[in-house]
Amino acid sequence: MLQRFSKMHYRILFALVLMVGLALALPAFAGHGKAKPAKKAILLVTFGTSVPQAAKVFDNIDKMAKVRFPGVEIRWAYTSVIIRKKLARQGQVMDSPALALVKLADEGYTHVAVQSLHMIPGQEFHDLRMTTASLTHGPEGLKKMTLGLPLLTSAGDMDRVAKAVLADLPPERTKDEAVVLMGHGTHHPANAAYPAMAFFFSLADPKVFMGTVEGFPDLETVESQLKASGTKKVWLLPFMSVAGDHAMNDLAGDEDDSWKSILTAKGYTCRPVLKGLAANPVIVDVWLDHLAKALEKL
Ligand code: CO
Repeated sequence: MLQRFSKMHYRILFALVLMVGLALALPAFAGHGKAKPAKKAILLVTFGTSVPQAAKVFDNIDKMAKVRFPGVEIRWAYTSVIIRKKLARQGQVMDSPALALVKLADEGYTHVAVQSLHMIPGQEFHDLRMTTASLTHGPEGLKKMTLGLPLLTSAGDMDRVAKAVLADLPPERTKDEAVVLMGHGTHHPANAAYPAMAFFFSLADPKVFMGTVEGFPDLETVESQLKASGTKKVWLLPFMSVAGDHAMNDLAGDEDDSWKSILTAKGYTCRPVLKGLAANPVIVDVWLDHLAKALEKL
């Protein structure tokens, strides 16, 4: 009896040792015995532009980001499929955010701060949010990602941007001349940032008006404000990160339906200034402050 018992004990003991041994060995198989060291990167994400001259302002952001965050790898991605396809036909390949992130993971990066260089938290930003969320928690690669907010996300941002735009107006513009800014506008609820921006501009300068191509306020609204202002001289400026297609055609183009043509036909003297907001270092700083917050959380 005693002998049988102890034989059984040995068997149980042997089984236990085997199980403990396997349990200890498993994590070593999974991670080759060592935890991956953290490797950080920044991904700057913009809608993109197919206008090479306009794309030059992205170099400005790139340079400023490199100065502010030295030693951190910086990559770029464009969210617009149309722009990427157009550029690819011209031989310039730009990554989508998903592809740029997968490449980083493949190169051993573990922590990425993704910065949205969009104007408002609209559709493009929310898509980017979903992309980053879906690429975290994989079996390999990226361990953590944080997302920096677009340009206009708080009253503080809007105040800074309004002041930066006004400080950068052409010196020839006199206070009795109107300024019309063209934002993009969207069907997305985040369009509310545009009338909010218009309010900040009106507080700082009663002759500066904000309109949008695809949202509210529209050109009709701007026209009624121009009429009430009593001025016949109008400066036209894009309120977009780059002075691309919308600025060159919808704002300042010679076609009948451009804002310049419509306002000129109504008796206004228009002077377009084609300069993207990303050319203004004070505005780039607002984006980079959001990126700094994303890096802190990484
Ligand atoms: Co557009």
